[in-house]
Amino acid sequence: MQNLKQHLNVLFGNCLSEAAGIADSNANVITASKPEFGDYQANGVMAIAKQLQTNPRELAQRVVELIDIADDSLIERVEIAGPGFINIHLRDHDLMLQGSGILQHAQALIPQSEPALRIVVDYSSPNLAKEMHVGHLRGTIIGDCLARVLEKQGHTVIRQNHVGDWGTQFGMLIAYLKEIMNGIETESHELPTRLADLEVFYRAARERFDSDPEFAETSRLSVVKLQGGDPEYLQIWHRFIDESLRHCQSVYDRLNVTLSLEDLKPESFYNDELSHIVAALEEKNLLTQSAGALCVFLPEFTGKDGDTLPVIIRKSDGAYLYATTDLAAVRYRSFDLHVDRSLYVVDARQSLHFQQVFAVARVAGLASADISLEHIAYGTMMGKDGKPFQTRAGDTIKLVELLNGACRRAFELVSGKNPDLDEDSRQAIADKVGIAAVKYADLSKNRTSDYIFDWSSMLSFEGNTAPYLMYAYARIKSILRKQEVALERYNITSIDAQEERDLLLKNLQLPEVIEMVAADCYPNLLCNYLYELAGKFMRFYEACPILKVELERRNSRLSLAALTAETLQQGLDLLGIETLEQM
Ligand code: ARG
Repeated sequence: MQNLKQHLNVLFGNCLSEAAGIADSNANVITASKPEFGDYQANGVMAIAKQLQTNPRELAQRVVELIDIADDSLIERVEIAGPGFINIHLRDHDLMLQGSGILQHAQALIPQSEPALRIVVDYSSPNLAKEMHVGHLRGTIIGDCLARVLEKQGHTVIRQNHVGDWGTQFGMLIAYLKEIMNGIETESHELPTRLADLEVFYRAARERFDSDPEFAETSRLSVVKLQGGDPEYLQIWHRFIDESLRHCQSVYDRLNVTLSLEDLKPESFYNDELSHIVAALEEKNLLTQSAGALCVFLPEFTGKDGDTLPVIIRKSDGAYLYATTDLAAVRYRSFDLHVDRSLYVVDARQSLHFQQVFAVARVAGLASADISLEHIAYGTMMGKDGKPFQTRAGDTIKLVELLNGACRRAFELVSGKNPDLDEDSRQAIADKVGIAAVKYADLSKNRTSDYIFDWSSMLSFEGNTAPYLMYAYARIKSILRKQEVALERYNITSIDAQEERDLLLKNLQLPEVIEMVAADCYPNLLCNYLYELAGKFMRFYEACPILKVELERRNSRLSLAALTAETLQQGLDLLGIETLEQM
């Protein structure tokens, strides 16, 4: 099914193609840049006229005549403007029908995209040696939003949590854990307690590693044992990994992120593949020995001094690298999962890594010809001082602590607004609002920029924030509750005020926004849309009385309010934000 913009693009594209005698001419329909230009405008005529060396206004005139003949029910009228723009005004009747249709059939709000694709979304993907920290937040929630959006459009989404569970750090952790286990053989229940704070555990192991050369050596040997498949080491490693994963899952659940244990595809999963990757590169004559290491040199990647940069595949001691595992993952996604797109929602600082991995995969035939490999890069989360967000002492902030802080602040806020509500209810609301505020603050920024973390702006009830949108939703729901119109009687039957029409049209534009988010992976477009939608609702609510008008109009206005609630709810859900019926 097509959204409004797609429908107009096809219609105007066909008429333009016919008028110009050029197949597949692009009418380039966009939402009107100013209200006086109508609802949409077709900008494609000028480019085609130039190609034909003909007068653009004359070509536009022929297009307009063909549009008249086509007699599309959605078009009220069109007019030519300026050098050859076509302004498009939509028919109220058709907009009302579409809005009413959605009220009867909420799934119709977001049409299925065709063709349905198979899409990997690789996101969150923390390193399991340590506890999740603020640096994992952006990737986790941006990735989750994209997975939700693509799934909603009907694509088959395969979530991949490419956790780091196999590097040299695990040798150190295993060695340390082994020491502890030896000391406490009889009371093994002590182990979980020692692992309860992974951060503390990691730091203790690290200290030991840095201060005791013998322990450092044992650590190095432990990696070799682990990677060689020694059952005892594997078992200890499993204990650690399980604990770390339990911790991640509890963060995901709290964040309302859809990742589950089934989505795990850890680095270790690719271990047995790595020698085949080397063989495949060897066969294509891509490998060069450099100081004992196996490398691929691609001429397009050069360093500051003009030297070609290596992609290291295997170190001289036989260890494989991050890039090697990623090459195996590209192969797996291409040829075993058969996906059309593979999205990597990863920090922008890994951009060179992905450019290199994608390029090597292409030349080595490890990527299928038609797979789209996309690094969905995001910037760093900064403190108000403009430095990466940290504690005062300069330590990384645990994600759990950040979320606790958000819920604590939200509780104060909610208590201020609803002093009469009982404490449990205030806490329940605050838990939702706090998490939502953190998520929305991040999602509403352009992901490619660094972003400044600021408690007070994200928890404000004014502006482009989660509390504002959640409150708008709860307010509409409370209006609807008071009026008690049965769902099956919702029907949009009249448009009197401009504010009413603006709100209706805005509601119908959600699918266009979703389509853009799906194509370019910018969740902030959806946030902006929802913020504008809520603003249009407020203006409608001020301009259009509901109670003091006769029954039919009252029902129509209530229906429009109900449609807006539905759009807000579905839109927020795609951001991974839960709405509240009462706030
Ligand atoms: N574990 C990596 C890190 O913490 C991120 C992995 C991203 N995904 C990937 N396929 N490389 O930096």
